Amino acid sequence: MPDNQELTIVSNRLPIVMNFDEQNRQWNGKPGSGGLVSAMNPILQSRGGTWVGWPGMVAEKAEGYEQSLREVIEDIGQEAGYKLEPVMLSSEEVEGYYGGFANSVLWPLFHGFPNRCDFKPEFWEQYVEVNEKFAAGLANTMEPGQPIWVHDYHLIGVAEKLRQFGSPGNIGYFLHIPFPALENYVKLPWRADLMRALLAYDLLGFQSGRDKRNFLECVERLMPQTNIVHGDTTTTVEVQGEKVIVGVFPISIDFDDFNERAQSREVESRMERMREELGPYKMLLGIDRLDYTKGLLERFYAFEELLSRHPDLCEEVVFFQLVVPSRESVPEYQALKREIDRIVGRINGRFSTSKWQPIHYLYNTVDIAELTALYRHASVGVVTPLCDGMNLVSKEFCASQVDESGVLILSEFAGAADEFHEDALLVNPYDTVSTAEAIYEAVMMDEKERRKRMRRLRHEVQTHNVYWWANQFVDSLHEPSTLVEASKGE
Ligand code: G6P
Repeated sequence: MPDNQELTIVSNRLPIVMNFDEQNRQWNGKPGSGGLVSAMNPILQSRGGTWVGWPGMVAEKAEGYEQSLREVIEDIGQEAGYKLEPVMLSSEEVEGYYGGFANSVLWPLFHGFPNRCDFKPEFWEQYVEVNEKFAAGLANTMEPGQPIWVHDYHLIGVAEKLRQFGSPGNIGYFLHIPFPALENYVKLPWRADLMRALLAYDLLGFQSGRDKRNFLECVERLMPQTNIVHGDTTTTVEVQGEKVIVGVFPISIDFDDFNERAQSREVESRMERMREELGPYKMLLGIDRLDYTKGLLERFYAFEELLSRHPDLCEEVVFFQLVVPSRESVPEYQALKREIDRIVGRINGRFSTSKWQPIHYLYNTVDIAELTALYRHASVGVVTPLCDGMNLVSKEFCASQVDESGVLILSEFAGAADEFHEDALLVNPYDTVSTAEAIYEAVMMDEKERRKRMRRLRHEVQTHNVYWWANQFVDSLHEPSTLVEASKGE
């Protein structure tokens, strides 16, 4: 893609955090953080462009204060070097589109939990309407022919709607979560509509070979009028004379950012404090959003199994689990929170001694220095989702392990397993005994072996960082037929 061509990014959330100052009756805002923001910032800053998304609060809350909201958002955009275009959503829309179809249908279904889905027709209707709203917002703000990059499961319908408003330039789509196996996808009552919406893009990007294969299998089964052509490096789906290029682009992180911060004085002094507070024990670390896909309960069962099979580890290791609150309005998440509280309490009650508590569990957010200190201080990173698109925690852990002494335990069902399968200890998180034994192996692993593995893991993240990921996608979006697959796991 020519470096000077403007780009439009579309995602459910705008890359900002907004707060309402009750006293002065006005909005305050600041740029958001996180992987997608740090990847898109340099690209949008150098090319110029627009980021379209929801500012994160319901429209009713902004009533009477829309003007100050728009001004604050505009200012943040100006500072960042590109335009920010808010799409306002009413509480009814947020409930049906975000809480409903995105998080109570697509999220569980695509992660392989069809029984957790709530297939309410109203959710689908709201999803279609909100996707149309995003497309209308885009059509109003975009220069004709400007390439568009749409992100994630909230917005699958945007390209189809945009084409109805008049055919724009190339439109790419990247799915951050897994694409489900055929037997799960077909349970969706709107499976054909959603498939047609996906095939309205020029470029479709998935996290791993698994997701791409699942998608192509669904296309083959549900869309008999299409033709799938496997080239040397690309796969093309031909549909009614149009071509959709399908590729694998494993997302990553800003390696240098974590690597440098991990060596800062701030992080070192926080590690010092952690040592004092947690005691002289080896620390096993889990960091996750509160989500049933993350395998939190299974992880605690494996830790319990570890302590009962290897009592020599009591008063030798602690498990530090940070759970970041998420989607608290969705009932499945509230129920999981209660269950975690119960299980952690039970295990601590069973094994604690007067001077030692096995699980330290925090339900909170922490700042980035604290997070990095946890990653660096940990002896073992325990990343055991039941299913995950990629899992960036595994990459952040490696990038922060500047002493090259930690061991990564990784679920074979995380997209990251494609890249890390040789140097992480891969586990099936449903297999409690084997996961417990893998943790034991990690704790006991000799220094030479740990260093060898961690050095290679870090090298992988350093060479395939988030900028590499974003550039691969943007280049392919400009000329989809020249796509060279970025996957390492194909
Ligand atoms: C996952 C999704 C993202 C989403 C994030 C946080 O990583 O792939 O699109 O933004 O979870 O979830 P939330 O519902 O708070 O946006």
